[in-house]
Amino acid sequence: MVDRQFAEPMLAELYDAFARETGDFEFYLPLLMSASSVLDVGCGTGELLRLAREAGHGGRLCGLDPAPAMLEQARRKRTDVEWILGDISSVEWRADFELVVMTSHAFQVLVDDDELRDSLAAIRSALSTDGRFVFETRNPLARAWERWIPEHAVETIHHGEPVRMAHQVEAPVSGELVSFTTTFTSPKWDRPESSRSTLRFLGVDELSSFLSAAGLVIEAQFGDWDGQPLTGGSPEIITVARRA
Ligand SMILES: C[S@@+](CC[C@H](N)C(=O)[O-])C[C@H]1O[C@@H](n2cnc3c(N)ncnc32)[C@H](O)[C@@H]1O
Repeated sequence: MVDRQFAEPMLAELYDAFARETGDFEFYLPLLMSASSVLDVGCGTGELLRLAREAGHGGRLCGLDPAPAMLEQARRKRTDVEWILGDISSVEWRADFELVVMTSHAFQVLVDDDELRDSLAAIRSALSTDGRFVFETRNPLARAWERWIPEHAVETIHHGEPVRMAHQVEAPVSGELVSFTTTFTSPKWDRPESSRSTLRFLGVDELSSFLSAAGLVIEAQFGDWDGQPLTGGSPEIITVARRA
């Protein structure tokens, strides 16, 4: 089931208002621009595909997301991108795409082993023979969830009003799954709006096993958006994979 944060129209509308992490789209956009066909799995509000089209991408751009409210935001941005409601296991593509991406840690919503296996198999099938699957997952060794506390709340202005977003991680964290609540508040609202999420933090070795079981091989890995090598303390595990 999709988190309320993405399913609820008023929260989906807020998604783009909060500043995104710096550097990720700067990494992804050149990859999109050099691929003739692109599938963005978990495309959300479609910002990356919008940027690619606006930068002159003339090929096939396809965004897939199971949250109608997020896709509604995407549809408002561009009508010349294919926006498809669903998850990757609900569609059947065969070698259709030169590039498949999952951005903003969308990969981490795949929490069950079966869901992860099925999604990777479907992504492999969607890739052309020489295609690439590029995505990132947060490095569990960097323990990002320790900073998901109300003291690190962020604020934006939406329709002229301040809106605050705060995370509260559910402690103690054990294993690969991290659950947390995101709460949005605004002086204009009667009450706060909350959404509970669970994300999976796969380590490098486990990730590699899932990819190879799905018939994918790792071509390159980076630890941060500036192309730094992956080390124990890297914040990200950014992976470029292709069909084995
Ligand atoms: C953090 S947002 C990322 C959106 C977008 N990729 C970006 O860069 O802004 C995560 C997205 O994953 C979507 N999602 C949830 N479950 C999913 C699934 N099983 N498969 C693909 N996407 C999923 C959500 O609806 C949401 O839009």
